[in-house]
Amino acid sequence: MEPLQKHVRQPSEVDIPFPRRICYIHHAMDDRKIFVNNLSEALPYLQAFRGKTLVIKYGGAAMVQEEARDAFIQDIVLLRTVGIKPVVVHGGGPMITEMLKKVGKTTEFIEGLRVTDRETVDITEMVLAGVLNKGIVAAINRAGGLAVGISGKDGNLVEAVKHQPSRPGKDDSEIIEKLDIGYVGEVKKINPGVLTSLDEAGFVPVVAPLGVGSEGETYNINADTVAGALAGALKAEKLILMTDTPGILRDPKDSASLISQIDFDEVTELTQRGVIAGGMIPKTLACLDALENGCRTCHIIDGRIPHSALLEIFSKEGIGTLIKGR
Ligand SMILES: Nc1ncnc2c1ncn2[C@@H]1O[C@H](COP(=O)(O)OP(=O)(O)OP(=O)(O)O)[C@@H](O)[C@H]1O
Ligand SMILES: [Mg+2]
Repeated sequence: MEPLQKHVRQPSEVDIPFPRRICYIHHAMDDRKIFVNNLSEALPYLQAFRGKTLVIKYGGAAMVQEEARDAFIQDIVLLRTVGIKPVVVHGGGPMITEMLKKVGKTTEFIEGLRVTDRETVDITEMVLAGVLNKGIVAAINRAGGLAVGISGKDGNLVEAVKHQPSRPGKDDSEIIEKLDIGYVGEVKKINPGVLTSLDEAGFVPVVAPLGVGSEGETYNINADTVAGALAGALKAEKLILMTDTPGILRDPKDSASLISQIDFDEVTELTQRGVIAGGMIPKTLACLDALENGCRTCHIIDGRIPHSALLEIFSKEGIGTLIKGR
């Protein structure tokens, strides 16, 4: 036990009656002991991940709820301070929808994808690479970090091609109908040079999920997909996808049905059975893509929990769903 005289008296303690003050001091020491124990428990992870790249997709509630947002920003600064290299990829769907509404454009979705005409992709770029990207950068810098915001167009980071989803033709015929949903892209190639340069110069890259086509045109790409492709290209230690559920659920309506660990084959099976659906599909595909290209582990975690990224990185149990490679 620490000697009592080491405790620095706080102004608020002055009026506390003597016996209660003793009690307060013991509580304070207990708290500090827990803190020190936790810190030393994190040591193996600090050692293992020092110098390693973590790609983190930041989206959903963590971008909106104040407490979760502030905690995330602090986590990024902390990671970089202890020598871990975070690369942030952010989403922003709800804010794009809001801005489109403000300018009187309605949003149409086909097969879960936003139909993106020229005007829509321009607004998407303004929101993603402008307001949102620079807001995250400013918040990290204000918290003591050093971030630089780019989009997938900078340094040709994300080369893209038009995404043309297909659906079976009418009347169950064999003909597959290709859908034209405009400037929605898929990743063709990642050129990670710009990220390497930023890293060498000590910056935290914050990436808006846009891609550039062969004619210089802009494509909007799902942020999970971009994060997965970057994690593979960088051979990241971890890909962490933050979302608004505890992770992959065995029953999407039951938040207690979290699958804490899953492999390739089970992901495929649950997708075929329709258990993994909607916005969870690009996440699992991003994880599979990242793992196949050399990322070590992938995690889908609950971004609503403040400091969820640190809980994943620095605790033995981790949180959310761990997706392992073959
Ligand atoms: N098996 C499943 N387990 C958990 N969530 C699932 C499952 N299947 C489908 N989902 C859905 O996937 C959603 C997560 O994807 P979604 O695209 O909505 O969010 P996000 O990617 O975190 O945010 P954003 O797209 O705005 O960046 C969940 O809210 C849930 O409705
Ligand atoms: Mg999504």
